[in-house]
Amino acid sequence: MKAGFRGVLVAGVAAACAAGCSFNKGADTAMSGAGEPSVVVKPFGKTKGGQLVHQYTLTGAGGVVMDVIDYGGKVVRLFTPDRAGKLEDITLGFNDVAGYETHDKYFGSLIGRYGNRIANGRFTLDGTTYTLPINNTPGDLPCSLHGGNTGFDAVVWHSEPLSEGKSVGVKLTMTSPDGDQGYPGKLDVTVCYWLTPDNVWRIEYEAVTDKATPVNLTQHLYFNFKGEAEGTILDHELTLFADSMTPVTKGLIPTGKTAPVKGTPFDFTTPWIIGARINTDNEQLRFGGGYDHNWVLNSQSGKLAPAAALYEKTTGRFMEVWTTEPAIQFYCGNFLTDKVPGKRGKNLCHRGGLALETQHSPDSPNLPAFPSTILRPGAVYKTVTEYRFGAK
Ligand code: BGC
Repeated sequence: MKAGFRGVLVAGVAAACAAGCSFNKGADTAMSGAGEPSVVVKPFGKTKGGQLVHQYTLTGAGGVVMDVIDYGGKVVRLFTPDRAGKLEDITLGFNDVAGYETHDKYFGSLIGRYGNRIANGRFTLDGTTYTLPINNTPGDLPCSLHGGNTGFDAVVWHSEPLSEGKSVGVKLTMTSPDGDQGYPGKLDVTVCYWLTPDNVWRIEYEAVTDKATPVNLTQHLYFNFKGEAEGTILDHELTLFADSMTPVTKGLIPTGKTAPVKGTPFDFTTPWIIGARINTDNEQLRFGGGYDHNWVLNSQSGKLAPAAALYEKTTGRFMEVWTTEPAIQFYCGNFLTDKVPGKRGKNLCHRGGLALETQHSPDSPNLPAFPSTILRPGAVYKTVTEYRFGAK
């Protein structure tokens, strides 16, 4: 890596750089994108295996700025304005690759092949039983979490800048070989992150396979609208556009049933402060150590529809989540601890961030009553999720 490297502006100056354009990731020619949307690429570091990781700084025309790395497609930082216009990084992450490798590789990451848990690390498809790595044992029950030991979060993706009109982004591609982490079929995956002039972070997921395989891609970014290491998210106000959820066993695996949320601490159909009912005596909350559940979205149309809204009253920051997916996992950071240092020298805390992961239900390959997650050769897996930022 060159000393004094400041990055190279690859989109947003005169002519927009189209997807797939070639550019020199190593050149020392930083420029300012003042006021204009831009993509600046620079080295972020190396994995412990020696792979170079690039950071893409996307500056949106609407003011939101995000740093994305091609290691796991992780969002390292995401700055949004509060109601006074002050930008703050509202995500949890680490300043270097070692931070992710040492503390938590899921922070801010793309998740695949299968977001969330598969019971006993096993599923049967077209008469063949497949075995996946066991890497999680909530309630002492074994499962395979987030695609196994080396999921899509732990891979350095091929990356290139995107620019179209006033939107900028990064395109991430990778191939997961046949048998990867026990899953059948060679899976070619493309994920595009876009930052639009309306302060929308749009994620477009695509995948194709050469053998039938489960696919359930999602994004594991932790938000805290007060800023990283600025306390818990229990004071954030959440709405979920979901009249039912999927109750879990103590192993955090859905039982296969859906349950109406009405009259329970899981009812976020109107805005609720997250902490208001989290200590209710409720078996599901005990199993999750708080909220760590999957809600069935009211829209099952496969079209982009509202899934969630989040608001924090001291800063005025809010966010809407829209998705084509049928479900959303709301996880309020129950496994986070104060042993982990954040990006700004302060330690994080229990429930210091929350994730809103659009997806299909956990363990769907073993639960035929749920919408299928099986991708077959010739079909294209395509989903879209948008995180729309604002302040009021
Ligand atoms: C999942 C949770 C899980 C957590 C572990 C989240 O993506 O939604 O169910 O407990 O990851 O980090």
